[in-house]
Amino acid sequence: MTKKIIVVAGGMGNLGGRIINALLNKGAEVRALVRSKSNKEKIIQLERIGAKVILLDMTNEQEISNACSGATCVVSALAGLDDVVIESQKVLLNGAILAGVPRFIPSDYSLDFTKFKDGENRNLDLRRDFHKYLDTASISATSIFNGAFMDMLTKEIPMIIFKKRLVLYWGNADHKMGFTTVDDTAMYTANVALDETTPRYLRIAGDQISPREISEVMNEVSGQKFRLLRTGGLGLLSGIIKITKIFSPGKTDLYPAWQGMQYMRNMMDDRATLNTIDNNRYVDMKWTTVKDLIAKLY
Ligand SMILES: NC(=O)c1ccc[n+]([C@@H]2O[C@H](COP(=O)([O-])OP(=O)(O)OC[C@H]3O[C@@H](n4cnc5c(N)ncnc54)[C@H](OP(=O)(O)O)[C@@H]3O)[C@@H](O)[C@H]2O)c1
Repeated sequence: MTKKIIVVAGGMGNLGGRIINALLNKGAEVRALVRSKSNKEKIIQLERIGAKVILLDMTNEQEISNACSGATCVVSALAGLDDVVIESQKVLLNGAILAGVPRFIPSDYSLDFTKFKDGENRNLDLRRDFHKYLDTASISATSIFNGAFMDMLTKEIPMIIFKKRLVLYWGNADHKMGFTTVDDTAMYTANVALDETTPRYLRIAGDQISPREISEVMNEVSGQKFRLLRTGGLGLLSGIIKITKIFSPGKTDLYPAWQGMQYMRNMMDDRATLNTIDNNRYVDMKWTTVKDLIAKLY
């Protein structure tokens, strides 16, 4: 049987590299679209695992189209602001369409932003803007909503404060948030890329868990008492976001402090709650829970 050809953009990155790995393990032929100026060592790594690296000008539709010839899906795992999420993804999409690729997965990999309004989260607004273009294009698109990357719970997200044995939260202690590890998101994306029958949106969560339940996991796994501490309501968080944006605008940063706060506010919002979940679509998926993640630390 001939192998399916999947094109991946952003394969030099954290998620994209893992998507490529998962696709190769599933027997796909993977073409990684890489900018000529990209890190040479990473290029060698991708080639070593079996990806076909194509060095090209990512602003050139024709070059992208040539690289996409014969592919059944283009997966974007690009990360950036409007120049990337909107402009570069438009060029990638146009190149895919020019080559007659039937399916496209945009670089969403976020909480389900379909019920949110513009202005509530800068990075998610950019995705919604790109969708306006994507949804008029002659290609089938599937977005993957995975909540937050679970791996960040023990690092970037200021929620579990290990040294002080605290679990901090905003709003309602019993509100469940969706978390999925980067590896699980990558494996699921590889499945989606190879599946020709996917809908416009797929929603996944390795775990849906509230701050209270996170503190219970911490108590159980660590054998120590973690205190649940409410830092304030979502209204206060909105006020802090406004002030932070004034004093520390970081408009050209992908993840300024206020953007992380916007994400947390969205995660704690009822509109981010997943009413339907597509975890069971692929039988080979084994989901990592927050308890699994924390257990690795002890
Ligand atoms: N839900 C969550 O909690 C969460 C957390 C983090 C990320 N994400 C999302 O996951 C996706 C992937 O993020 P990541 O953290 O894996 O990103 P990353 O590690 O920063 O990798 C980004 C990739 O995009 C490429 N890239 C950036 N600008 C480009 C451009 N103008 N043209 C072509 N390629 C460009 C980079 O290529 P070079 O190597 O050439 O620079 C790199 O391969 C993004 O949609 C991101 O927002 C979600």
